Formats: sequence, C-alpha cells, structure tokens
Amino acid sequence: MSMHGTAAYSPRTGPLPPLVERAIRAARRHGFGHSCRPEQGRLLQLLAGGARTAIAETGTGCGVGLAWLASGAAPDVELLSVERDPARAKVAADVFADVAQVRVVCADWTEIYAHGPYDLLVLDGGGQAKTESAADAADPERLLEPGGMLVVDDFTPSRTWPPSHAGRTDTARLFWLQHPALRTVDLPLAKDLSTVVAVRRTEG
Ligand SMILES: C[S@@+](CC[C@H](N)C(=O)[O-])C[C@H]1O[C@@H](n2cnc3c(N)ncnc32)[C@H](O)[C@@H]1O
Repeated sequence: MSMHGTAAYSPRTGPLPPLVERAIRAARRHGFGHSCRPEQGRLLQLLAGGARTAIAETGTGCGVGLAWLASGAAPDVELLSVERDPARAKVAADVFADVAQVRVVCADWTEIYAHGPYDLLVLDGGGQAKTESAADAADPERLLEPGGMLVVDDFTPSRTWPPSHAGRTDTARLFWLQHPALRTVDLPLAKDLSTVVAVRRTEG
C-alpha cells in the first residue's frame, strides 16, 4: 500500500488528467492517504489504453488509480472497481457519477469473479497474494482474457533472487513471477517502488 500516495501529488507532479485531479481532491477531503502514486498512475493510464472491453480493480480507495485507468481507456471500455469500505466506496462513486463507463461497487474483492473476464486487472485491495492465505490470490485463468494483463503494485525494488523485502523472501512477488499461467516482470518505477506486471499466456 502506498503509505503516502495521496501526498505524493503536488504542483511539481506536472499536469494531471482532470479525472485524476478530481479523485485526488476527494481523497484529500476524505483524509485518505493511500492512493496510488503518480508513477503507478501513469503506468495504469498507459496499460488501460490497450484494453478492448473490460478493466477491473480491487480496492478502489477514493478512486485515484481508477481515475488514471479511466483517463487511459477507450470510451467503450467498461471499468469495474470494488471497495469494501462503504464510506470510501461512496466517495469514489461520487467522483465518477458522470462517467458512464465506470462502476464502483461496495463489496469484497471477490465480487470481480461475478463479472469479467477482463483485459486488464489491477489488484490493489484483495487478491494480491500478500497474505498467508492462498484464498487471497486472484486466479488469472478465471479473471483474465488470454493475453490480458494483471498489475500488482507497492513492492520495494529488489536486486536479489528470490526477491526479498526486509530481509525475507517476498513470497507475494515470487507467487506472481512464477505463476505458470503468466509471463511476469517486476518493473521498478521509482527508487522505492516497483510493480509487478503480468500477461496471461496464450500458449498452452
Ligand atoms: C491501497 S488502497 C487503494 C488505493 C486505490 N486503488 C488508488 O489507486 O488510489 C487499498 C483499498 O483496498 C480496500 N480493501 C482492502 N481489502 C479489501 C477487500 N478484501 N475487498 C475490497 N476492498 C478491500 C481498502 O479498504 C482500501 O481502500
């Protein structure tokens, strides 16, 4: 989780898409600090441009990552984001009230299984394999179109194999890097931030 994601936006960040500006203002008003950072947001905007029909996100927060996604997606692509905290879900739903292609649902992340498959799936609140429980890992074979992409952020760049964090093997990152259904890279976006980006294999 980006501990200071919302605070990372300042005039020095440069121009932002209007929807992102709106979501940042909402996150600040709501006192929510864990929005995705601008480096991650720009990646989401770029990847959203490759989606053909559907994008999903777990963990909406106040909608900053979702705003980057919507700013990059073609107008006929549908975006679904799921947030379990009712107050945050309401804040985010209000941000996108006039954006017909975006739907914010207040539910556990597993609600994304009821829709999809997706061309792009962003795991930012549930499904990231960051807990001990195997049930916390989203299943890309059920959720992604062949060739579809998956993004999990908030890792710390690591130069070791297996990747490590705070002196221990980073099991979540390893899970995605070794997933048999995916081709996965670990992209350093900043000195202190890396993101896992994966594509669902099309070969058997
Ligand atoms: C890091 S914040 C999300 C930031 C947001 N995606 C952005 O880019 O600004 C994580 C969010 O996931 C939500 N969350 C955590 N566990 C969840 C779950 N099991 N189902 C749905 N949402 C969850 C939290 O309430 C929190 O709002």
